[in-house]
Amino acid sequence: MSDQSDQSDRNDRNDTIGIDDLPIREELKGQSPYGAPQLDVPVQLNTNENPYPLPEPLVARIAERVAEAARGLNRYPDRDAVELRTELARYLTRTGGHPVATGNVWAANGSNEVLQQLLQTFGGPGRTAIGFEPSYSMHALIARGTGTGWISGPRNEDFTIDVGAAEAAIAAHAPDVVFVTSPNNPTGTAVGADVVERLYEAAQAAKPSLVVVDEAYVEFSHRPSLLPLLEGRPHLVVSRTMSKAFGAAGLRLGYLAAHPAVVDAVQLVRLPYHLSAVTQATALAALEHTDTLLGYVEQLKAERDRLVTELRAIGYEVTESDANFVQFGRFDGAEGSHAAWRRILDRGVLVRDNGVPGWLRVTAGTPEENDAFLDAVRELKKEQDA
Ligand SMILES: Cc1ncc(COP(=O)(O)O)c(C=O)c1O
Repeated sequence: MSDQSDQSDRNDRNDTIGIDDLPIREELKGQSPYGAPQLDVPVQLNTNENPYPLPEPLVARIAERVAEAARGLNRYPDRDAVELRTELARYLTRTGGHPVATGNVWAANGSNEVLQQLLQTFGGPGRTAIGFEPSYSMHALIARGTGTGWISGPRNEDFTIDVGAAEAAIAAHAPDVVFVTSPNNPTGTAVGADVVERLYEAAQAAKPSLVVVDEAYVEFSHRPSLLPLLEGRPHLVVSRTMSKAFGAAGLRLGYLAAHPAVVDAVQLVRLPYHLSAVTQATALAALEHTDTLLGYVEQLKAERDRLVTELRAIGYEVTESDANFVQFGRFDGAEGSHAAWRRILDRGVLVRDNGVPGWLRVTAGTPEENDAFLDAVRELKKEQDA
């Protein structure tokens, strides 16, 4: 729920009863929902969205395809989304360095739903999942929502994965699902194929378990996709999204590539007709414009690199980034980063406090948005150094 609607929503309901007074599941008591602030400020660089609106020819094509779909809305959509999965497979084959067929691909409403379906199938009550933190907070939240126990695995000081410690954690806990995010959110760090190979081996020796490589930001990376690792690894999944590189966060379309048996397995938990005909039509239209959309990725990579250079010139530390965002610091612990977040917001720029003490994250926006951000942090630095 957005902050704007919070108050009116509270006014509409009886405040004497709270969530914890309801007979909800024990493990949900006292927890908070995912909640990146949605504030109405001029420069919004906090949720790693693509700042460029879809180009007009694509908007027109979406209108055409959706109109076509609308004529058939009296019927349920294609439950297996075959045309869409075929086009996604074609995209992955063309860009991922590995042949992917329709049967290797599954799609859902955002990669969050893909991850949820994976945890419903391979996690669940009595089972556990591990991620190496700080990482994408929804991995732990979706684990909790599906009744899967969460294990917080270690990272090095520089936010790279400590492979030896990660192998040891996998051996000690024998988790059912292992998450590897590459490039990682919020740090931006990409993971080498050798690391995933070792973690996969450790996970198979310990259980065997499902290894999920979350490649939400891979199109922004200098490193190639880890898709070729699917060869000979039936317990490996690569998850992707159209929310970032395709500039279509509002569409809600995520997908995975894996052995066809994994695709068959998630059918056991997916809701029938989960992907509306409108969503499928819109995603297909966007895929027709892949080359134009990926053109924006090149601009965003250049802006990301500019942010890194300028932030360092101002005097901030920056984590190496392979994504469309940059983690910068350091501030004085959790309080220092939150105070800095507030000071930047006071200047009309919304960045993200991911709860990593001493660090904040900024999404690469348009050149103008990035200039506004850089002006804000330049002033902040002067204040801090004064
Ligand atoms: C690492 C990572 N994975 C997955 C997602 C979810 O993306 P979506 O559900 O929009 O596909 C995000 C969104 O920020 C992310 O950062």
